Amino acid sequence: MAGRAAQQPIRWADSPVSEPLVLETSRLRLVPIATADAEEWWGTIWSDLDVARYLPPQGILPVEAVRERIRIAMEHWVTHGFGIWMLRETRSGSLVGHCGLLANESSDPELVYALCRQVWGRGLATEAAAAVLAYAFDTHNLAQVSAYVFPRNTASSRVLRKLDFHAEGQVRRFQAHLDHFVLRHE
Ligand SMILES: CC(C)(COP(=O)(O)OP(=O)(O)OC[C@H]1O[C@@H](n2cnc3c(N)ncnc32)[C@H](O)[C@@H]1OP(=O)(O)O)[C@@H](O)C(=O)NCCC(=O)NCCS
Repeated sequence: MAGRAAQQPIRWADSPVSEPLVLETSRLRLVPIATADAEEWWGTIWSDLDVARYLPPQGILPVEAVRERIRIAMEHWVTHGFGIWMLRETRSGSLVGHCGLLANESSDPELVYALCRQVWGRGLATEAAAAVLAYAFDTHNLAQVSAYVFPRNTASSRVLRKLDFHAEGQVRRFQAHLDHFVLRHE
């Protein structure tokens, strides 16, 4: 499925994008971020300090800022052919978080993810990230992917280790020392 997706042109609008960019896992439907997700994304991720404290800018955001993030994230999809997916539980259709890859000008693409507190501890972040990585490696021929984690964020470090990322020391980012993890494409 991932290979087929690469050959499809990205059709971008305020509505869901072309079907091949939707990824499915056993419990989740991953749908590229769209304008209509603003309120729900704000409600699940950006209005909860326990979630947002680990994401730049390390605090809750007003819904207007979330709309601006979505605008930038949609541009990112058009430019790079990958980006942020909204995670919806297949069973309920509820938005439970996001996962995706962000391009960096001077380093590897970066894996990002966050889930609403109600679903923590069920393996969903690992499940979503595995699908995103498979898509990205298969489709975009990436050599490696990086991830950056606050050292106190044990749950996130655990997710990365379960995905076979290796710790590569610390880097200075967002005025903090973050643990740098790398996954190389075998
Ligand atoms: C990090 C986050 C995405 C993990 O989501 P999740 O769906 O609960 O992750 P998973 O269930 O796939 O895996 C979590 C692992 O961390 C472990 N864990 C959770 N809290 C932990 C803690 N305080 N100490 C040690 N391990 C912990 C879990 O037991 C699990 O490991 P296991 O499968 O070996 O038991 C979620 O906690 C979150 O959204 N946090 C806020 C945003 C964030 O930190 N994003 C990442 C920024 S780098």
